[in-house]
Amino acid sequence: MAGSERLICASEALVDSGRGVRFEVEYFGEAAPAFVVRHGGRAHGYLNRCAHMALQLDWRDGEFFAAEGRDLICSTHGAVYDAASGQCLGGPCNRIPLVKLRIEERDGMVYFTGFADER
Ligand code: FES
Repeated sequence: MAGSERLICASEALVDSGRGVRFEVEYFGEAAPAFVVRHGGRAHGYLNRCAHMALQLDWRDGEFFAAEGRDLICSTHGAVYDAASGQCLGGPCNRIPLVKLRIEERDGMVYFTGFADER
């Protein structure tokens, strides 16, 4: 999966704690839903798959943040994740984090460059 840099969206498409942008990545040879959001001024990306069950987090396309706009929340059963790290903060995710993507931003564009656990 290394060397798979892809343009996802323009930087201006991501408003802090606002709607995310959905896209697909190849994950272990299969297409998998993913998303990028902005939080604390930085873009963060994850597989769109709850750690509790393999369901997508957003019940309305692009709506990933809990009401206060700080944490990410799974709309199905309420697992809560840290927006910057993907760590499970509470709910049925049982301390299992989201799968974090490497996201780079340059020249006003947001790119997917691989998975955070790749070296
Ligand atoms: S599927 Fe996400 S909390 Fe249940």
